[in-house]
Amino acid sequence: MKDIVLLGATGSIGRQTLDVLNSHRDAFRLIGATARQSGEALAALCADHPLEQVAVSLEHQALFDRYPHITCYDVTQIDKLVAHAPKTAVIVNALLGSAGLKPTLTALKRGMTVLLANKETLVVGGPLIKAALAEGGGAIVPIDSEHAALAHCLRGRCVEDIDKIIITASGGSFRDMARAALAEVTVSDALKHPNWSMGAKITLDSATMMNKVFEVIEAHVLFDLPYEKIEAVLHRESIVHAMIHYQDGNILAHLGPADMRIPILSALQGESCLPYRSVFDITKIGSLHFEPIHEGRYPLFDLGMVVARAGGLHLATMNAANEVAIELFLAGRIQYLDIEAAVVMALDHFPNEPVTTLEALLARDQAVRTYISEHFQEGDSR
Ligand SMILES: NC(=O)c1ccc[n+]([C@@H]2O[C@H](COP(=O)([O-])OP(=O)(O)OC[C@H]3O[C@@H](n4cnc5c(N)ncnc54)[C@H](OP(=O)(O)O)[C@@H]3O)[C@@H](O)[C@H]2O)c1
Repeated sequence: MKDIVLLGATGSIGRQTLDVLNSHRDAFRLIGATARQSGEALAALCADHPLEQVAVSLEHQALFDRYPHITCYDVTQIDKLVAHAPKTAVIVNALLGSAGLKPTLTALKRGMTVLLANKETLVVGGPLIKAALAEGGGAIVPIDSEHAALAHCLRGRCVEDIDKIIITASGGSFRDMARAALAEVTVSDALKHPNWSMGAKITLDSATMMNKVFEVIEAHVLFDLPYEKIEAVLHRESIVHAMIHYQDGNILAHLGPADMRIPILSALQGESCLPYRSVFDITKIGSLHFEPIHEGRYPLFDLGMVVARAGGLHLATMNAANEVAIELFLAGRIQYLDIEAAVVMALDHFPNEPVTTLEALLARDQAVRTYISEHFQEGDSR
């Protein structure tokens, strides 16, 4: 029986993780869970799971008064919850944005295993994560579908044998739209992903292709591969999630339906093979298409790859500007193309420096959030 602590239990990945846990109650026990604003949904888990710890925003904490055996932390202190979890528990990090970094670092420094969906952790804190892995002897298992696919294709082989890896991108909500039309798109247009049903932010990141930049960085950190060996291509069907070209000429690809429960179960089960019925009929798919990501089509992809290669605090700058801009877009306060503008503005304003400490990184993250929020509050963006 594995003890599971689920960070971000009320989000898209969190809820799908709960589906998987509920289907395998003989293998997993949920002992910790967090939410930010979805206090009721988090409290509902208490009746069904042997929770020992939760974290939620202050205004929802009274919901847990009737469970005196459960320790309730503020949502900003998820790292404390992780620090008090049994070392043998597995952390599933399904948090959104750079808020996932501190809990991941805490878990890794304690030598725990983190099943990671929260890619922003690796984008902003790659060097700190690597140091924490070395210090604590913990492990990261990817949940992101492309990286879970790569992990499958790597089984029985080693990273040194890789010639290059390819991760695929659907092209997002606006893949068939001329760039000129993007100025007018609405939030509801942007949230219509052609293949996947996901949280709002990652759906937006897929539309701008920032998500693919994040995934390239994620692959770079997770598999210790140089950027020259990581390629992203457009693949509109989202059936092949990733492939590895080995130096001996073999190419292994991972196929599957767009269903995150599959990589979630893979990460949770480790070496076992628990049953899950996925709906997949290759004869109904017909054909698969692959094409390059043309320069200029997704400006945030082009820019993001330059930032990725440069490394340093610019990664935290890019991520924080993107997070704030997406929140503002979802709130109807800025236009879709302002997301790009916000990222460019932040990268122009803040200098790039090496990532030395967590404190410096978090200070940059906060400074960028303030800078972008104030800029758009003043209404001088258009
Ligand atoms: N969704 C997918 O299919 C998918 C696929 C691959 C990778 N990912 C990655 O997985 C992560 C989660 O994505 P998602 O789509 O599941 O997001 P989501 O639906 O927005 O859920 C985010 C979860 O984190 C909580 N949360 C949000 N902001 C927080 C903060 N500042 N501090 C603490 N908790 C916070 C939310 O709580 P409330 O519900 O209370 O707001 C919710 O439980 C992202 O990094 C994403 O890129 C997602």
